[in-house]
Amino acid sequence: MSKTALACIQCGYRTLQWVGRCPSCGAWESFVDGSVDQVAPPVSLADISCNDHSRITSGIGELDRVLGGGLVAGSVVLLAGEPGIGKSTLMLQAAAAMQKMGRSVLLICGEESLEQVAARAARIGGVSASAHCSTDTNVICGLMRSFEVVIVDSVQTLREPAASGEPGSVTQVRASAMTLSRAARESGAAVVLIGHVTKDGAVAGPRVLEHLVDAVITFEGDGGHSLRVVRSVKNRFGPSGEVGIFEMGTSGLKEIPDASGVSLGPRRDVSGYAVGCAIEGRRPLAIEIQSLAIESRAQLTRRVTHGIDPSRLGVILAILQRRAGVALATFDVYATVAGGLRVNDPGLDLAIALAAAASRRDRTITKGVAAVAEIGLGGELRPVPGMEARLRELTRLGFDRVIVPSETQEKHSVIHRAATLREAIEVAL
Ligand code: TYD
Ligand code: MG
Repeated sequence: MSKTALACIQCGYRTLQWVGRCPSCGAWESFVDGSVDQVAPPVSLADISCNDHSRITSGIGELDRVLGGGLVAGSVVLLAGEPGIGKSTLMLQAAAAMQKMGRSVLLICGEESLEQVAARAARIGGVSASAHCSTDTNVICGLMRSFEVVIVDSVQTLREPAASGEPGSVTQVRASAMTLSRAARESGAAVVLIGHVTKDGAVAGPRVLEHLVDAVITFEGDGGHSLRVVRSVKNRFGPSGEVGIFEMGTSGLKEIPDASGVSLGPRRDVSGYAVGCAIEGRRPLAIEIQSLAIESRAQLTRRVTHGIDPSRLGVILAILQRRAGVALATFDVYATVAGGLRVNDPGLDLAIALAAAASRRDRTITKGVAAVAEIGLGGELRPVPGMEARLRELTRLGFDRVIVPSETQEKHSVIHRAATLREAIEVAL
């Protein structure tokens, strides 16, 4: 037995009477039609079968890696990224691959005309999935029953008739996502919602959806580069933090399974280049840090980074100056992750420091030397997790000496232990 009622889309608070503001969470105009169901008795968790989720492989290895093996039937994934980064292309390629494997795939095209989508499909080699351009959630829920996978491009174009506001508003985006996620659970379809974010990620859209969906994956890229990184930031059915790497070409996205090659490229003997190894998800990634230190003419020195957190560079330069005698206070320092990747792994501290020190002294790092360590404010080298995998990757790529902190537990023929940044510089330069 159910009774028509209103439910707050922010917090789920239910009421039989219309109210402008939710008495529970304070949200304005947040009520949509909901029904008060009879309360089911609680059950023992031990009685619930948790068989492996039925996975639908996306047919794209790097995307499956991020999803934890593929899309999960009855779940909702949000794919968020800046406009123009390649979200539609990625999902169109996945649709083509899934359709080829015999899955029934529906594309909801709210952003572009069917002709535009067909033109993109032709560019990536043809897609036989079904397409529909309705953005009404009731229509989509009706269609969902006949498909195994439904890709919605984009969530900002959806219209939920039971909620107020224009498509793209917080109220509409949330209400639509809730309706589709309920329908996905009921029908067993795997739903992918594409959502736009701006550079600061603040626009009504993905941010407000994160807790409503089962998995959130982001699609990032650096303006001038063709490299694209898919990253899982939340995943109820798999690992989070995992990354997949692609390159945007003239006929769509190409997978790059050997991502270390992206940053290393051909070996060059240039002053100011140093190699480290980061862990992205579960994968070790050799990274080349390129640095350039030049005497500043201005009162205020510049610290410019690409792919590295600028405040981390600032800290490392201060440690270099104070603890290792590398004077950089009157120098402009530029530091870049080669290849256009963005990394945020403390294990790269030492490579960043060595690159800056090498540039300051106009020296090249000794051939075959790489470095993995976090640096403490006292100039001491600190161990980082995943050392075994990092050493294996650097050895595979031909490095025969890897500078690591003295406390490192692992035993490996390439290891060269150092206690401090000063010692590491002596070994490397
Ligand atoms: P798109 O998938 O439309 O991005 P989004 O859905 O995230 O807004 O892709 C946009 C860009 O990708 C566009 O500038 C054109 C470029 N592109 C290529 O370079 N090669 C291709 O094969 C395709 C299909 C797109
Ligand atoms: Mg698009």
